Amino acid sequence: MKRINRLPPISGLSLKRWQKIDRGIFVTGTDTGVGKTVIAGAIARILSSEGIDVGVMKPFESGCRQSGESLIPRDAAYLKRAARSDDPLQLITPYPFKEPLAPYAAAMRTKKKIDFARVLKAFHQLKERHSFLIVEGVGGLMVPLTAEKDLLDLILLLKLPVLLVARSGLGTLNHTLLTLGCGRKRGVSFAGVILNRTAPKKGLSEKSNFEILEERTDIPIIGPLPYFEKKGSIEKNIEYSRKALGRNPLFGDMLAHWKDTLRQPSR
Ligand SMILES: Nc1ncnc2c1ncn2[C@@H]1O[C@H](COP(=O)(O)OP(=O)(O)OP(=O)(O)O)[C@@H](O)[C@H]1O
Ligand SMILES: [Mg+2]
Repeated sequence: MKRINRLPPISGLSLKRWQKIDRGIFVTGTDTGVGKTVIAGAIARILSSEGIDVGVMKPFESGCRQSGESLIPRDAAYLKRAARSDDPLQLITPYPFKEPLAPYAAAMRTKKKIDFARVLKAFHQLKERHSFLIVEGVGGLMVPLTAEKDLLDLILLLKLPVLLVARSGLGTLNHTLLTLGCGRKRGVSFAGVILNRTAPKKGLSEKSNFEILEERTDIPIIGPLPYFEKKGSIEKNIEYSRKALGRNPLFGDMLAHWKDTLRQPSR
């Protein structure tokens, strides 16, 4: 049967091409609150537990807590812990904002201007320090960062393959296909989609969402990562998500390819 709506292959998508991953991954989402930090943290902990020196970056973080003169980026702190990284939060997050707004809006309110050169400098520093770098985006691909640029522009500059985190339930088909379509048009290389159950109930759409995404795309669809009740401490949450994601066979394949890449000499 001819599938007229199937997305054409996006560069770097098939299982065989996973080994092309260039010692890092950019974790974006279909939206805010879909589980980017939880998934990025799980991956960071899996790699770090395998003895891989993994670094993390969350270049922009909004809604940071004020502590004296400093702003504390919560996601960055979570990722740092998950990766067991000792990098300073200022390097992990060069642009922390107090207001819970898109970075462009938050920067305007504080009369700052986001400078991509500053983000790139921190990125290269972190890449030098670690064997593998996990970068978490903010919101989704089209989040504005400056008057002219959005998150997608930054992803293309960093030249990292993208792992897309999406909700497993109702609404995800539209959001996921829109994100993949938009990214593909601009030349993004997607490594896979990880579905995440962000609500306690499984939901009727979960199974068909998975199947339809597999049918319409050429990228690995992984998951869903099950919903978990909060475990009482950040460390327990990280460990829980590590185990849950680590049990997924397709994710295991992806990991094996990353490890192959890491065994190859640096380019
Ligand atoms: N599988 C899950 N089970 C239970 N809770 C989850 C799960 N995934 C995410 N959450 C919770 O949902 C909330 C949002 O998750 P998370 O912070 O990872 O999203 P995000 O996409 O990184 O959001 P942001 O856009 O703010 O960075 C958090 O409270 C997180 O603990
Ligand atoms: Mg986050």
